[in-house]
Amino acid sequence: MKIAVIQGPNLNMLGIREKHIYGPMSLEQIHEQMKASAEQNGVELEFFQSNLEGEIVDRIQECLGTVDGILINPAAFSHTSIAIKDALSAVNLPTVEVHISNIYKREEFRQKSVTAGASTGVISGFGPFGYHMGLIALTQIVSEVKA
Ligand code: DQA
Repeated sequence: MKIAVIQGPNLNMLGIREKHIYGPMSLEQIHEQMKASAEQNGVELEFFQSNLEGEIVDRIQECLGTVDGILINPAAFSHTSIAIKDALSAVNLPTVEVHISNIYKREEFRQKSVTAGASTGVISGFGPFGYHMGLIALTQIVSEVKA
């Protein structure tokens, strides 16, 4: 089973940016932990991060026929990007949207995710552990689809 992990804008700054909200772990550290647990379950991960909306749309389109599911944190684009939502709807793969912070507890403009409507489910507010939770959920959903 192959899963694409897609990280949106400013997530390359994890460990530096607003640590009181996002914690001290870098994106590389989060990815290392995910890789370790994925390997134990025979899951292959493909990591991608971009600060550019169009690059994220391109990456989602490439997922068609190449991966079994998508784990995505569209970051700030969650609140604005119809293009990312449309790309997720177009490829129509099992998808979990992850937010490190609880977006419903934050500023009003973060409380709506445009992209979430194209996801199978959303995990928000559990810190970097949310990626791990998302991976477990996605692995389960993909195995059900494949069965
Ligand atoms: C975020 C929440 C977004 O509102 C924010 O723009 C981010 C990260 C999160 O993971 O909590 O960059 O997606």
